[in-house]
Amino acid sequence: MKGLRIVSTGRALPKTAVSNEDMSKLVDTNDEWITARTGIKNRYKCQDESCVSLAIKAAGIALERAGIDKNEIGAVITATSTPDYIFPSVSCMIQKELGLSEEIAAFDVSAACTGFLYGLRIAHGFVNSGMSKYILLVGSEQLSRIIDYSDRSTCILFGDGAAAVIVKASDGIFAQKTWTRGDLDALSCDGVNGKECFVHMNGHKVFRFAVTAMEQGIKEVLEKAGLTLSDIDYVVCHQANKRIIEHVKKKYQEHAHKFHVNIDEYGNTSAASIPIVLDEILNEKSDTASAGKQGEVSIAQPRKILCVGFGAGLTWSGAVLEG
Ligand code: ACO
Repeated sequence: MKGLRIVSTGRALPKTAVSNEDMSKLVDTNDEWITARTGIKNRYKCQDESCVSLAIKAAGIALERAGIDKNEIGAVITATSTPDYIFPSVSCMIQKELGLSEEIAAFDVSAACTGFLYGLRIAHGFVNSGMSKYILLVGSEQLSRIIDYSDRSTCILFGDGAAAVIVKASDGIFAQKTWTRGDLDALSCDGVNGKECFVHMNGHKVFRFAVTAMEQGIKEVLEKAGLTLSDIDYVVCHQANKRIIEHVKKKYQEHAHKFHVNIDEYGNTSAASIPIVLDEILNEKSDTASAGKQGEVSIAQPRKILCVGFGAGLTWSGAVLEG
């Protein structure tokens, strides 16, 4: 089996920032409570933007940074729970706006916050089989569309945003585990047959599930890859709650510095949260990046990245790849 390598990344956030102070004008809450319970200080909210427009912007940045022939993109996959339309898919809109070949597959993946990681698995299948050279994988969410802004237990958590990666097969590593457990009680959003369309969450149940899912994701994907955390450069966790990440980090204190946390800035952006972190670490935190063949971002020693996430479904996954 071939490895999977990130060639380039890009992200896009709405212009409008919403602070905890702003949230306290909507519901009975305050900065102290939100910061202590979640680690969130800020999130972004679409005004003129949408899930599709953010996705196109993030994907466009990733494509430009990759410097590749766009006709070599073999598929567009967008992970989202908040598309602009039931159909056409967000991915179809990206194909059109970026002028990608019509001879590709373009479709969306629905697995809530785990959607990007499920998309990674599909992307690997495409490139590993030799069917495609590059895959454009996007996570984009306009969660403000499905938030009840009178429910203080959920509305403070979520933010809008998008990020994209372009991946290709490599001689390096790829390993992944994915899990699914049908469950309507912990996290759901109705919206079919004229029902209200808001996130419903049992915070305690999700929290308990999240810490075990994250630990399982890290442990079992490392076993599958035949690696330990000492071999990993970055651990990229779904950014749902700083306390969940801190809880997991405690188990791996020696490697705590490898866990990147940005939930303070963005809140929980669901399927976009992991690629937003990837964009931050691969573009801002590296002083070794340089232009390679075809203008791709390349480094002498690709970094090993472990991504782990969970979401409604319930769904969860851990993946190891290079970037
Ligand atoms: N501001 C002030 N007080 C609040 C707020 C708020 N925004 N929200 C709830 N409270 C109150 C509650 O009413 C409760 O008051 P009471 O004691 O008088 O009844 C008190 O604060 C404590 O509430 P808890 O729910 O026990 O707070 P907890 O410490 O569990 O934190 C939280 C809640 C942050 C939601 C936590 O349970 C959590 O993070 N759970 C996981 C959420 C998560 O990861 N979701 C992922 C969704 S991803 C996806 O797939 C869509």
